[in-house]
This record gives sequence, C-alpha cells and structure tokens, in this order.
Amino acid sequence: MRYIHVLDILEGKYEGKAVHLRGWVHRLRKQKNMIFVLLRDPSGVVQNVVKKAVVSEQEYADADKMLIESLVTLEGVVKADPRAVGGYEVQVSKFGVLHFAEEFPITESQSVEFLNDNRHLWMRSRTITNTLKIRDEVFRASREYLRKNGFYETTSPMFVATMGEEGADMFTVDYFGQKMFLTQTSQMHLEPQLYAMERVFTLAPSFRAEKSRTRKHLTEYWHLEAEEAWCDHECNMKRQEELISHICQSVAKNRLNELKELGVDPGRLMAIKPPFDRMTYDEAIKFCQERGLDIKWGDDIRTEAEEILTKDRKNFLFVQYYPKEIKSFYMKNNEADPRTYKNDDLLAPSGPEIIGGSQREDNAETLIQNLVRIGDNPEKYKWYIDIRRYGSVEHSGFGVGIDRLIAWMLNLEHIRDAVPFPRTVSRIYP
Ligand code: 4AD
Ligand code: MG
Repeated sequence: MRYIHVLDILEGKYEGKAVHLRGWVHRLRKQKNMIFVLLRDPSGVVQNVVKKAVVSEQEYADADKMLIESLVTLEGVVKADPRAVGGYEVQVSKFGVLHFAEEFPITESQSVEFLNDNRHLWMRSRTITNTLKIRDEVFRASREYLRKNGFYETTSPMFVATMGEEGADMFTVDYFGQKMFLTQTSQMHLEPQLYAMERVFTLAPSFRAEKSRTRKHLTEYWHLEAEEAWCDHECNMKRQEELISHICQSVAKNRLNELKELGVDPGRLMAIKPPFDRMTYDEAIKFCQERGLDIKWGDDIRTEAEEILTKDRKNFLFVQYYPKEIKSFYMKNNEADPRTYKNDDLLAPSGPEIIGGSQREDNAETLIQNLVRIGDNPEKYKWYIDIRRYGSVEHSGFGVGIDRLIAWMLNLEHIRDAVPFPRTVSRIYP
C-alpha cells in the first residue's frame, strides 16, 4: 500500500484520483448519514467525507464512535471542492480506525499554562508543527552554510570545570563528589580544536542559571557556535552576517507554506541581506541618550536600549567595541580604544540580541592579566591559556542563540514557543 501525504493532495497532484491516506483526526463534524473527517499528517490537513451509503456498516459505526486525535487510514477519490479548507475533499470508499483516542484534553480555548502543561499533546497543533519544521530548516541551513565555507562540525563537553561567560550564572552538578558545571558555552573547548581543523562549529545546548523570567530567556537553549582561525574582528562580523542571511533566505524559500500558515510575511526574512547595519557601543549609548533613555557609558545594553536601537529597522544591527567591564576576559583588546574589546553583539530588527561574538585574545600573558583583573584564578584555565603558547593563531568566533533567532523570525510571543520542550526558570515539565 502506498500512502501519500496530505500536501500532495493540496498541491493538486491527485485530483480525480484514488489515494490512500493515514493520520490523525484533527476535527470532526457529524451530520445525518455522513461524517466530515479532517485528517492531519505532518504535511497538512485535508477534508474527507465518509458516507453511510458508501462504506460498510462497521466502518461507519467506527467513524461515528471515534473522537478527535484517533488514528485512521482511508481510501478515497480526490475532488476539487472550493468549500473545503485547502480546496480539496476526499470522498472516502474505505475507512479504518487504527486507534480510538480517549477524550483529548486540549480544546479550543485554554490557558497558556494548561497548554504548556500539555506540551506533549499540544505539539500536534499546526502552530507547533509548523514552528518545528522551520526549526529544522534553521538547523539545516546553518550546517549548510558553515560546511560550504570549510567549517567542520564538532562537539564540546557539557560538563565543565570552569566558567565560560562572565556574568552568566551556572548550574552546578555533583560529579562523583566534585563540583562541576553545565556549560554556558562551547566556545572554550572549540578554540583548541582550531589547531586541528582551522574552522569549527558546534550546535549544542548551553545552560544558564540566571533567574530571568523574560520572553527571551531559557535555562537550556540551543547554541550555534563557530570559531575561525586566521580571522579578525572584521572577518568575524562578515561571517555572522552571511550566516544569518543564509538562514533567513533559506527559511523564506524552503518553508513558504509553514510561514504562510503561521501568518509570517516571508518578505521580512528576504530583506535580511549583507551588509548589516553597524554602530559602535559609543554611538549606541549616544543614540539612546538622545532618545531620552537614562543610560551612560559603561552600562550594559539591556532590553530597553535594545528596543530603542532596533525599532523601525529592517535589517540586523551590529553593536561593536563594548567596554571591558561588561564583557568577557577572553576578548581581544581594541588598540584604537583600550577601554574596549574587539567584539560585537548582533541585534535583530525590533528584536533582542541574537549573537555575541568577538576576536579572541591570542596572547597568553594578556589573557592571564585579564583573569587576574576580574579576580579569577588563571591556574584553573591552564589548558585554555596553553593554546596561546604553541603557535598561537589570530582567531575569532561567535555564538547564535538559535531559539531566539527562531522566535524573532516567527514573531513569537515567547522564546519557549520556538522549542519542543522548553526549560525555563519555572518549567521543567513535560
Ligand atoms: O552572548 P552570549 O552569552 O555569548 C557567549 O556565550 C559566547 N561564548 C558565544 C561565542 O562567542 N561562542 O550568548 C550568545 C547568544 C546570545 O546572543 C543569545 O542569543 C543566546 O546566546 N542566549 C540565550 N538564549 C536563550 N536563553 C538564554 N538564557 C540565553 N543566553 C544567551
Ligand atoms: Mg551576550
């Protein structure tokens, strides 16, 4: 038996033909002597009509008895029908229920809390299905761009003994009686791998223990991190804008149906192209001050400032050269203004920070001084400093918050809706 997918019908490939379908009952409408079954598979939803006069008595009794989310198979002929969603209807000749669903707990109007408690069931919704298919395309396109540009995909440990990002809290783990952490970033363990492969990336979770209950914070998020040898700050920003543009273009091109169903204008993504807008941190602070924000040189760029900086923009914005006090010890000194590092944050149009990146400090002594300055113990970082002692190479890298990127792309209310099973300060179930 060759089953087709709903989308094959909706694309008009089977008009007038007999087909076999299988999937879940999305909606049901029972009338006298006929039952309308909206059947759903991952590709879409199509209307099927089961008529008492056509199918067997047993088949009709089963269809009459079943509830939504039951698993069914059917055989029938496709007819164009402008009244049906999607423009087609299948006139069923054979109908079978493979599994009778119990009463489905999710109905039309339910609280966000209830839906999140039932995430394992809610993910069958068209909204989540389409989001997850777009998420898949973001992963695919990321890998496509990086591989095409000579990057090797590799891995880094999730258990680590040292901090990776200043200012971000870490989850501690009891590791056979020793204190360990869940990693905040794979960067530290990517850098040594440059000496083996020159260009490397990982796509892995990062863990953040800040108690941030915002629309853009997860405690476990997916982090795309790349490191590149023979690459300075300029080269690093070019990499970021090419990568983000490639991802946006790919989603617009390859997930058009899903974007449409989600009500997202693909033009928004098509507009994302190099070169991205740029500002220095200096300019960004002045820009915010001129618009009435109470902010001074040395302050971090937080949500309010981000909003001011990115409002009305169509393209992404780089903010570069941040003060050392608010960024991490591993960044490269900016000779032009030694109060700052050669780093960048990338902000989405009317959105949050999506990327943090920088040229890395490649001098062992400077790195040690940086660690001492922030009151940390360079001994703990011996291995990390070591790679600057044997053929130290100029290099740069960055980390993309994949879930934030997806949430921005799809205009999602909350970052958790970009993830199949979100982990936040207040949620670890299901
Ligand atoms: O800016 P961050 O902290 O930078 C780093 O971790 C660097 N080590 C990356 C690197 O250079 N390899 O994190 C990078 C990105 C942020 O820009 C943001 O998009 C995302 O990770 N991010 C989060 N996403 C969801 N929930 C959180 N709690 C996040 N914290 C950071
Ligand atoms: Mg950051």
